[in-house]
Amino acid sequence: MKARVTVHRDFRISSIDERLYSAFIEHMGRAIYSGIYEPDHPQADANGFRKDVLKFVQDLRIPAIRYPGGNFVSAYNWEDGIGPKDKRPVRLDLAWRSKETNQVGIDDFAIWAEQAGIEMMLAVNLGSRGLEEARNFLEYVNFPGGTQWSDLRRSNGRKDPYGVKMWCLGNEMDGPWQIGHKVATEYGRLANETAKAFKGFDPTIEAVVCGSSNDRMPTYPEWEREVLEECYENVDYISLHKYFGNKSKDTLNYFGKIEETGRYIQTIGGVIDYVKSKKRAKNDVHICFDEWNVWYHIREDDSRRIKEWDWPEAPPLLEENYNFEDALFVAGLLNEFIRRSDRVRIACIAQLVNVIAPIRAEKGGPAWRQTIYYPYQFASLYGRGDALNVAVDAPTYDCSVADDVCYLDVAGVHDKAAGTLTLFVLNRHLTETADLDVSLTGFGSPSLAEHLSMEGYGLNDTNGPDKPDNVVPGMGTGVGVEDGQLKGKLAPLSYHVLRLS
Ligand code: AHR
Repeated sequence: MKARVTVHRDFRISSIDERLYSAFIEHMGRAIYSGIYEPDHPQADANGFRKDVLKFVQDLRIPAIRYPGGNFVSAYNWEDGIGPKDKRPVRLDLAWRSKETNQVGIDDFAIWAEQAGIEMMLAVNLGSRGLEEARNFLEYVNFPGGTQWSDLRRSNGRKDPYGVKMWCLGNEMDGPWQIGHKVATEYGRLANETAKAFKGFDPTIEAVVCGSSNDRMPTYPEWEREVLEECYENVDYISLHKYFGNKSKDTLNYFGKIEETGRYIQTIGGVIDYVKSKKRAKNDVHICFDEWNVWYHIREDDSRRIKEWDWPEAPPLLEENYNFEDALFVAGLLNEFIRRSDRVRIACIAQLVNVIAPIRAEKGGPAWRQTIYYPYQFASLYGRGDALNVAVDAPTYDCSVADDVCYLDVAGVHDKAAGTLTLFVLNRHLTETADLDVSLTGFGSPSLAEHLSMEGYGLNDTNGPDKPDNVVPGMGTGVGVEDGQLKGKLAPLSYHVLRLS
């Protein structure tokens, strides 16, 4: 297959917001308990956090993390998680039919986030609670001192405010499963009033209003229009969520869902523009794609188990075992986020540890990186700078979710300050090698500084505690610069990070 690619340094889409590579972690399953926090583990630090897991997290260079939910947040009392641990109540987590011990709360999580070098992005409960509790939480987290809630924080051992800038106004409020689910106008009004109060406290706060839980929701995309019409001027982002799978074992169709996601983003971009014009508003609203990942391997089993169990504490839940095919899919999806980075300013892989996660950790046992860890890490490390509009001329295919899907999926990022151009290239052809020919304009005479690749694995190959490095990236071969053109052969079903400087 011939694949002709044109990259020009002036064909810029946007300056990527580094928060495009953010993550999400929820109080559910073993994400927090025996995920990041396990005081009895041999690797636990003085605060009970697992150092082996933390190291894998640090290596991802995650800019921001959304916490504490998810569906969990819609019946969560944040006050349960503060103060002496032995005084904290055990509560029923209604979202996941589990017991929440509250041994980790905001002040504990903040310690972990600081150690990990990640900025917190906090969600407030607009399901079972409302504006009053949300504003108390804000005061606890962000006010220096001399008031009831800020002094409580100080007496709990944290003198300085956390200065959290990003606030999510509830979670998936369009979903009938959500505790305190609302209709669009009802939610839009509550979100507006909450955002107004938050910005009254600090006008630099960024508010994220809930968009659709996915693009199959019956209310999509009307939900976004109705919600934004209530709150447009007071919010900065609208959230999108989408989870993916390949139940039908149709690899090309699975990869076509990357294009489908592009349409989802484009549609919501259109709704944002429509409401902005209708309201004669001056401000911009961007997209915060704050939950995305592959979730299908054990989804049905989990749905059955959760109905049958008797309110366990931190049960294994959504512990997806990712294969090589999922890694290729995640690589392509991250490429789509780069290509749409003018609209999508923040995106969060959901989730980070154990629950639909790139990192897994056994209780009392080892931690390991799943296959999807690597494309996420490469995007986070090398996908910072200007997103370029890369032209690709290669064969295409039609599938049930999209037509004209190009076999070669490419995203380009130019880091002017570092003087590097990174091309993220996915050959999604099942059998054909891509004969790559990239013409580069405006980059001087670059050379290929690094070529990382993931290739040669079976689509079902996975990593695990007994084979942690079964599917890992390696140094790529067969690509080089000749007469100013980047040329080479890319194997079928392979992913490449080509770094030029
Ligand atoms: O990430 C798992 C769940 O998926 C989240 O709690 C919810 O927001 C979404 O439906």
